[in-house]
Amino acid sequence: MKTNRTGIPPGPVVAEAQHLLEQHREKAWVMLTQRYGKSFLYQGNLVTCDPRLVEALLMDRTHTQRRSSVYKYASWMIPIAPGLLFMDGDAWEKRLRAVMPVFTKANVDSYAECMHQQVVQHVTHWSENQPFEDLYALLVNLNSALFLKVGCGLDPDEPGVHELGRALVDFKFHYMDSRTRLDDFGMGKRQFARLPRFVRSHWQRNRKKRQLHAQVQSLVHQRQKGDSRGLNWIHRLQEAGFSVAEIADEVNHLYGAYNALDHVLTGAFYELSQRPALVESLRNELRAVTGERGYPTRDDFRVLPNTIQFMKEVLRVYPATMGVARRFGESMSVDGVTIPKGQETLILLHALHHHPDFWQNPDQFEPSRWQQEPSVPFTYIPFLTGPRKCIGQHLAELNFVIVLNALLQTFSVEISDPSIRLAAFMMPRFERGVAGIWRRRKAE
Ligand code: HEM
Repeated sequence: MKTNRTGIPPGPVVAEAQHLLEQHREKAWVMLTQRYGKSFLYQGNLVTCDPRLVEALLMDRTHTQRRSSVYKYASWMIPIAPGLLFMDGDAWEKRLRAVMPVFTKANVDSYAECMHQQVVQHVTHWSENQPFEDLYALLVNLNSALFLKVGCGLDPDEPGVHELGRALVDFKFHYMDSRTRLDDFGMGKRQFARLPRFVRSHWQRNRKKRQLHAQVQSLVHQRQKGDSRGLNWIHRLQEAGFSVAEIADEVNHLYGAYNALDHVLTGAFYELSQRPALVESLRNELRAVTGERGYPTRDDFRVLPNTIQFMKEVLRVYPATMGVARRFGESMSVDGVTIPKGQETLILLHALHHHPDFWQNPDQFEPSRWQQEPSVPFTYIPFLTGPRKCIGQHLAELNFVIVLNALLQTFSVEISDPSIRLAAFMMPRFERGVAGIWRRRKAE
């Protein structure tokens, strides 16, 4: 294959890559790497699912010190950008230090009961046979209450807070609207065609963002009058001396990050709706372990093998993003190929999680594969690893298991169409609403 001066083989042209994704959806990520190799060049970026490169990029600090320019562009394109994910250097460290205590295992564990109660309270409003048009939207509403409660220390049922929750959700749906999103794989005709609509909606987004920030600011001011409820992001950021505007940005950004859970849980219930035997086994396992208490804690994870295997498989099949961007901090040589310092790179998470060179039956949903760990390291990284990994992992895992337990014990889920695919964007979402019904179970 022809190579450029770095020796990295060239990949597809944009039209071809986007056509493949349109046609084959998520399967196209692996197809691209089978056609062009585990590393290839695409619009000047190195695109890779080579575990050795992934290991270097994630674990070696020289490659994590400066954020990829994709994140810098995102700063003016998307309104949740002034948050941790998009920062580097001192600004990132200062903010990380402020919020990190909220994410520790011990603190997250202390949320378990409160999270469970919040879910139970939320579903008391559901009817015996609760229909839904969009499973994802339903889970967004449920999780937004948990976000406000545990992460922000606010009561989601208080009027001002309730409005804030609605505004966060509305804002998120607005900027993830498929008619105006630009997170395709590469900049091509399709994206250019969407630009005018994007620009129009950008103005609207900024107006919504200002309203949202005014709501956060008013809540922060109320707290400054002395109302402080323990360890939470708002409190920590206030203590660290961040301005009210910076706190509003970070709350908005953290809500965006929290939203990954909504997609992952949608994938979980989508799979369960097609596997009644698995539902029964998870229900029984969770009931036996949680007993009178009724909810699981992180400590229980080691005695919930089926539940944890299920969660791992959901995270393998439904990663929160198809890829993450990185930038080489130093040049690096692999197999005679020199990757120059500063090379912008996209790590293909979905392809790593589905490549037949790393997994048996990669397209099958098989929780039992997790009886063993993956044979090739750095092929399963739903939360990444190393210095810039997801800081919300403990919280996300607990939230996942708590929602799973609370819903499975009370309801059975049925969906109308089990053939809905993911849309061809970098941030995955089902291409249309997953409709169905939650049926309340009879007391045993
Ligand atoms: C199942 C759910 C989740 C998954 C799969 C997930 C996955 C990820 C991934 C892959 C990244 C790296 C992104 C990148 O570097 O480009 C990330 C970063 C991050 N996640 Fe999560 N996440 C989840 C839930 C959460 C939750 C609930 C929070 C809490 C608000 C959170 C907070 C963050 C933050 C703040 C970052 C940026 C960290 C940094 O750059 O230093 N995540 N997440």
